[in-house]
Amino acid sequence: MTILDEKYARFESQASDVKIPCFERNGRIFDMIISQQLNRPILDDIYRITGRLRSIAKSKAGSVFLQSVLAHKRAMLYFAQPSSRTFLSFHNACHILGMRTSEIRDTSVSSEVKGESFDDSLRTFSSYTDLIIMRHKGQNMAERAAWLLNNFSNRPVPVINGGSGSDQHPTQAILDVYTLQKSFEFQGGLDGKTILMCGDLRRGRTVRSLSYLMKNFNDMKIIYAAPTSFQMKEDVCQFLQRHNIPYRMETEALENALPEADAVYMTRIQDEHDEVAGESNRTNISRFKLRLKDMAIVKASAVIMHPFPRRDEIDVAIDPDPRAIYWAQERNGMWTRAALIAYIFNVHDQIMNY
Ligand code: CP
Repeated sequence: MTILDEKYARFESQASDVKIPCFERNGRIFDMIISQQLNRPILDDIYRITGRLRSIAKSKAGSVFLQSVLAHKRAMLYFAQPSSRTFLSFHNACHILGMRTSEIRDTSVSSEVKGESFDDSLRTFSSYTDLIIMRHKGQNMAERAAWLLNNFSNRPVPVINGGSGSDQHPTQAILDVYTLQKSFEFQGGLDGKTILMCGDLRRGRTVRSLSYLMKNFNDMKIIYAAPTSFQMKEDVCQFLQRHNIPYRMETEALENALPEADAVYMTRIQDEHDEVAGESNRTNISRFKLRLKDMAIVKASAVIMHPFPRRDEIDVAIDPDPRAIYWAQERNGMWTRAALIAYIFNVHDQIMNY
């Protein structure tokens, strides 16, 4: 164990509420690491910026203006785990704002393969760029990167977590809530709605980050539908209890909970996190898939979501149903991520005033 490992272990052992200020500067978000950092005013700001960005980008003059906003900044996309959406949406979000980008998409092509440590790699990225957007298979690695750069680097650039282990994917939760808010725009917004999350909840970082964001809305109810072995972990359940968010677990079949849901959020089995190969296959998940016939018992006003990639949790025959909003959800990622970057660099007033 290195001296830095020991120091990080001490930091990590603190309660998450204590850690959050480490990712802030002057009361503003600097690093985006965990969903618990986000409150309602910050979310509302990010969504206002998102709407404005989308509207400005419709014209050529608007796009050219947006490309000037962060033309003096460079971003590093360090994706040490596979990704399509998060990588591409961040890549394009940076370009919308005029940022130039560098990327490492596989540690086998970085000097980590020669034995360079994660810590030295991150310091190296911060030498050349002004923002690090990262995905890592390890739990808490984005948090470690932010802690490292904040405390031990003379160039502490912001870090955005694009997915860390089976723990958190906060920018996915930001785009999910944006999608929900837009979908329920004429039904009073997300407040008072019942969100049904289904699939591998134990190891699904999207459902974990989304659950944490529910503290920012009133009268929410959550239903977790999964076999017992894939049910939501105790840490998230305790968080919901602390924030008086009612939840229940459905362990028999998805259809038992479908009629109650305002939003059905499907996820795939995260078997890349199996500790023993083939472990996930031992659980029968056949009753936790959404079939075309199930749509008959889903509310007419409900929405069906999925962070993607999907396997067979949602029958493709459901795609043409207007309640299936997962393709719009995916596209929202690029705009909300551009808004988050503008917010972190404090250039959003320029955008709002354009
Ligand atoms: N939703 C999501 O994180 O997708 P990718 O793994 O393709 O980035």
